[in-house]
Amino acid sequence: MMNKKDEMRALALEVGYPDTSYHEFLAELTASKNIVRYLEVGAHKGSTLFYVLDANPDCQAYVIDDFQLSTFDELWANIKRFDFPGPSYSQVAVCEGNDLDELPRVMENFKPDFVHLDADHTSGGLLAELALVTKVPYPPKTIVVHDVIDPCVGDAIEQFSKTKSNYRWWVTTQVFNHAAVFELEVEK
Ligand SMILES: C[S@@+](CC[C@H](N)C(=O)[O-])C[C@H]1O[C@@H](n2cnc3c(N)ncnc32)[C@H](O)[C@@H]1O
Repeated sequence: MMNKKDEMRALALEVGYPDTSYHEFLAELTASKNIVRYLEVGAHKGSTLFYVLDANPDCQAYVIDDFQLSTFDELWANIKRFDFPGPSYSQVAVCEGNDLDELPRVMENFKPDFVHLDADHTSGGLLAELALVTKVPYPPKTIVVHDVIDPCVGDAIEQFSKTKSNYRWWVTTQVFNHAAVFELEVEK
């Protein structure tokens, strides 16, 4: 019989990841930052979400997805299957919708300290997401953008980094499809 970790890994491989390097990276990064409110835009069936929840049992999560590739019910069934976070499932809220429509409300009400962007991979779409998550009174301390290997994503993060001087950023090439991490600089 598979344990929870094995099942989480099996889901990651099932949805098309060749390995769980990105999942483990996110789990370690979020745990090292003691995140409180995690927002994922583009959660699909939840494969990376579950690694974050597992590593941060006390965090609250909110996800937005338009479910072009999967369904709300599939994601919700996985949340129950992995038993996050127990009988009430109050740790995770799922919003079915378009990123640009939902982000203004979610940023205002949820106030995430960690944002994971893995939805729209066009340069214009990603730049619009980045603008919406940072032009708020309480910008997230950390933003992770996946798939930096994609030229459109790479172009968007280059452009964003030139306009947002209050985030320092770095790219890891050690994970599947590479990722960019933006960290809010604390004013001295
Ligand atoms: C690459 S998958 C995300 C993978 C996921 N992070 C995981 O852990 O497996 C991208 C997801 O973003 C959703 N998506 C794409 N564009 C979107 C948009 N403009 N607004 C909301 N969701 C979007 C897709 O339907 C899909 O479920």
